[in-house]
Amino acid sequence: MDDPVDELIAAEAPHSARHIWILGRPRLIPAARPWAPTSFWSDDIRDLEPVRHSHGDEIVANPMDGDAGPVPDQVWMELPESLDALDDTLSALHGLAAARGATGLHIVAGGRIRRMNKSLNTVAARWFDDVHASLGRRRARVLHFSSPRAHPARGAGWPRHNQISTMGLEVELVAHGGVFHGAGLDAGTALLLDQRGTMLSRLPSRPAILDLGCGNGVIAAALALELQGAAEVQARDVSWLAVDSTRRTALANHVDVDVTQADGLDGVADESLDLIVTNPPFHRGSARDSAPTRRMLTDAARVLRPGGQLWCVYNSHLPWGEHLDAEVGPTQQVARTKAYTVTRTIRD
Ligand SMILES: C[S@@+](CC[C@H](N)C(=O)[O-])C[C@H]1O[C@@H](n2cnc3c(N)ncnc32)[C@H](O)[C@@H]1O
Repeated sequence: MDDPVDELIAAEAPHSARHIWILGRPRLIPAARPWAPTSFWSDDIRDLEPVRHSHGDEIVANPMDGDAGPVPDQVWMELPESLDALDDTLSALHGLAAARGATGLHIVAGGRIRRMNKSLNTVAARWFDDVHASLGRRRARVLHFSSPRAHPARGAGWPRHNQISTMGLEVELVAHGGVFHGAGLDAGTALLLDQRGTMLSRLPSRPAILDLGCGNGVIAAALALELQGAAEVQARDVSWLAVDSTRRTALANHVDVDVTQADGLDGVADESLDLIVTNPPFHRGSARDSAPTRRMLTDAARVLRPGGQLWCVYNSHLPWGEHLDAEVGPTQQVARTKAYTVTRTIRD
């Protein structure tokens, strides 16, 4: 195994496992299977689909789904950087174990040392009586969580609800812990939504609108509220936590949004959309790789109708304006602050 985190998780896991649940680290599957029956989940559909393909549907189990099947006695997982993401996952695993009276749950959570901090242990101690760290090896470390607490410190619970206001529009956001900006409004997204008067002014009747990379669903919900049923609003994201949050946000605001978990614009019909609105991802996980975003933006040229618009907000130092101008159509800067730029691109 060439990944030090995978290697350490497999080496540190107690050898007594009866059923192992791997979260977010597909390359651990071959290490786990000779020991015990194995389940797998990844929030990102790009990691989940290949596993579904090679191991079948039976291996897939989502810890956020209260109906997830038998509760394993071991979980081998990627340690998220976000404390809220960890809290949400541990809350779900603790809840599943408690509902089935399973007290022997042992979690082995691994990550790179430079991305870890002591607060992760504090979060885990809300849910487990026994929380301790391994010795680091090859810049990786694992944390062990066991003995689920009889009376965990639940806090406000997940998913979180939050009422935000954007230029006179009230939106209730609902979000899981691992979603971009949680149940809050990102400053770049706020700048983008501030332009919605112009954005929605030149659309055909009953336009087809897509919130691309929807996160907590704030863009889809705000536009659906603004247009009050006079549009077909869709949303998509690679993350299950994001699509579930967006569905809940739409429900909380009593608007119809058609939400899909998918990679970029895969499966969207050619020339089928009038408007795409996006605060695109900057990088995948912790790898500073902008290729997926580049691909996703380029593909907008295929799915927009001629004359259709792409509205985008991004960090002002990024090259997306030039990229859109070259690949999709004439691109104009609509708003700019020191931190963020909003552009409108019209498909040629
Ligand atoms: C910067 S966040 C914006 C979230 C939300 N629209 C907002 O404004 O708060 C970018 C979102 O894109 C999603 N994403 C990343 N890569 C993607 C891809 N290849 N296809 C679809 N969504 C993707 C991420 O999961 C994340 O939710």
